[in-house]
Order: sequence, then structure tokens, then C-alpha cells
Amino acid sequence: RQIIAVVPAAGVGSRMQADKPKQYLRIYGKTILEHTVGALLSYPPVKRVILAVAENDPYLRRLPLARDSRIQIVSGGETRAESVLNGLKAIENPERIQVLVHDAARPCITHEDLDKLLRVTDENGAILALPAVDTIKTSDVRQQIIRTEDRNFIWLAQTPQFFRADVLLRALEQALAQGFNITDEASAMELAGFRPHLVTGRSDNIKVTRPEDLALAEFYLSQKNK
Ligand code: C5P
Repeated sequence: RQIIAVVPAAGVGSRMQADKPKQYLRIYGKTILEHTVGALLSYPPVKRVILAVAENDPYLRRLPLARDSRIQIVSGGETRAESVLNGLKAIENPERIQVLVHDAARPCITHEDLDKLLRVTDENGAILALPAVDTIKTSDVRQQIIRTEDRNFIWLAQTPQFFRADVLLRALEQALAQGFNITDEASAMELAGFRPHLVTGRSDNIKVTRPEDLALAEFYLSQKNK
């Protein structure tokens, strides 16, 4: 079977407070995006990476990545979900393809984790996720607690998220048309009636989001390459 990775990389990364989007910050010798795409392309089942980048992005073209024949570049959208959708639309014969959707901002992904995801073969698909270790509170708009969740059933969704390309494409289109705020692929699948599997991931597969995450990601990358 054929696997394509779709990498949304069109965010501005406002929480990072840096002078450029976080995927273009350099850690451990390369940009975050190069670490992320490198981890995917060096994984043998992945034949191609579709990168969704902002239309006016001046950074990608400066990287050797931009000239790699295994990489296809599409325009990002206003939201992460629209960026992913643009990537999926670039896939020919989606009924024959499975996609790994992976955040540009998660450079520490391991091949072992990808192996675990690919073992799930039914059409519900699967995502990497971590069981919650903290106690989870739900708040009202004034930031006061209204409820404590049963953390035994709470998971933190990571990426990659793994689905049949045609099924995910339809689910995302439907969810966006209905106006849902979609922050990962699994939520679109859930809305379409599927029950994606939760595959236990690793705590080092962080999404680089805040300034303090840079040093942490750098440390994890150095451990991985030991
Ligand atoms: O903002 P957040 O950290 O959730 O973004 C997750 C991923 O989605 C990042 O890799 C970011 O570049 C991407 N993204 C995108 N298009 C947007 C917003 C975010 O591709 N409009």
C-alpha cells in the first residue's frame, strides 16, 4: 500500500514570539521543518511528503527541501484543517492511498511510533496520543472550574494521524462545511461517525509551541541521534 505524508506548515506560530514561524527556527543544526520532513522521508513506507505552506512564505525556498523531488508543495489555508485539506486534494487516486498527517512543529517523531500507527489497518484510522497524567478541569469563560473529568478516559492527541486519504478528505470537507472548529483530523472523522484508534505515543513527541519548547526539542533530538 502507498503512504503519503501531509504536513501542515502554514501557521504563523504566534505563541513562539519569534521573528519567523516556528517551523523555520533552527535547532540541533537544522530548521524544525527539516527535522520533521527528514524523519518522515527517511521512513521507508513514506514515498512522498505534501507540504502546505503559506502563500507568501519566503523561508521554504531557501531550504534544499524545496528542491527535493519527493516533496510537493501546496498552499496552506486560513486554518490547520484547511491546510490539510489542500494537501489531501493534491493526492491522485486517494482511494488507494493512506495518509499520515503530521504537524510541521513535531520534529521528534520516531520511526517506532510510525510503525505502531501503521499496524492499525481498519478504516477508522488511528492517531498517536498520550494518556493524561494531570487531572483535567473544564472551566467556564471566567476561568472557574465547572467540572473535573475522569482522567482515565482522557488522552492528549498528537500527530501523526493515520487515515485512508479518501475517507479523511470527505470527513474534513463535511466538518468544515458544517462550520466545526477542527483542530485535528480525528475530530473530523469522529463527526463523520468513525472511531479512530488511540495508539499510545511518546512524551518526547512534543509540538514545539512556546519558547521553552525549543531547548526541550533540541535535547530530544540529540538523544534520538545518539
Ligand atoms: O497552531 P498549531 O500549533 O496547532 O499548528 C499545528 C500545525 O498546523 C503547525 O505545523 C502549523 O504550521 C500548521 N498550520 C497550518 N495552517 C494554519 C495554521 C496552522 O498549516 N492556518
